[in-house]
Amino acid sequence: MNFFEKKKIQNAPNPKGYWGRQTLKMMNKRHDGLTDWGLSFLSVDETDKVLDVGCGGGRTVKKLSKKTTDTVWGIDISSAAIEESFHLNKAAIRRDKVVICKADVADMPFDDATFDIVTAVETVYFWKDPDQSFREIFRIMKSGGQVMILTESRADADHPEKWDELKEAIDMNIPSADSLASALTNAGFVGITAHIRGDGLCVIAEKP
Ligand SMILES: C[S@@+](CC[C@H](N)C(=O)[O-])C[C@H]1O[C@@H](n2cnc3c(N)ncnc32)[C@H](O)[C@@H]1O
Repeated sequence: MNFFEKKKIQNAPNPKGYWGRQTLKMMNKRHDGLTDWGLSFLSVDETDKVLDVGCGGGRTVKKLSKKTTDTVWGIDISSAAIEESFHLNKAAIRRDKVVICKADVADMPFDDATFDIVTAVETVYFWKDPDQSFREIFRIMKSGGQVMILTESRADADHPEKWDELKEAIDMNIPSADSLASALTNAGFVGITAHIRGDGLCVIAEKP
C-alpha cells in the first residue's frame, strides 16, 4: 500500500479534512458497482421511506432517491461525509427529496417504525457497538421492512489473510455471512439471506 492509498484507507472509518474528502470521492466511485449489485436484491417500492446509514459521499442516497417518491435520508458520523453528500445531492436536498444528517447508527434521531428500507454499504466494519446498532436499525424500521448490509470484504472469503494489511492500517471488523446473520437474528430480524459475489457479501433481513 503506497502513501496515498494508506492516507485514504485510514480515513475510511470517519473521513476528516483533505484526505477524508479524497476518500469519500474515491469511495463514491469504487463502491458504485458493488452498490448496484446489493440494491438488486432489495425490492424498493415507489412510496417507500428509505434510510442509508454511513452514507459517506452520498452515492447510495442518490441512487435510492431515484427509486422512491418519498424522502430519502442519509446519516453519517463524519462532517466531511455530510458535506460531500450535500454536494452530490444538492438539487434533491433543495426539493426536500433528500435529507442528510449527522448521527451515529447506534443512536439515531428517528421515531420507532419510520423506515421501510435501511441500507448500509461498506460501513458495518466501523460500528463501535454493532449489537446496539442492529437493535437501533430494528427499532426505526417498520414491520415488513428490509435492511441490507453490504460489504466488499468478508471474513469467510478464500484466503482471508489478504485483509491483514488493511486491518493493520485501520481498526475494522470484517464480518462473515454467519456473523452478520447471527447479529441480525439477535436484534430480532427474520428471513435472512446472504448473497456472495467474489469477496463481496450482501445480507438482506426483514423486520417481522
Ligand atoms: C468506507 S465508508 C463507506 C461510505 C459509503 N457508504 C460508501 O459506500 O461509499 C464508511 C462510512 O461509514 C461512516 N460511519 C462509520 N461509523 C459510523 C457510525 N457508527 N454511524 C454512522 N456512520 C458511520 C464513516 O464516517 C464513513 O463515511
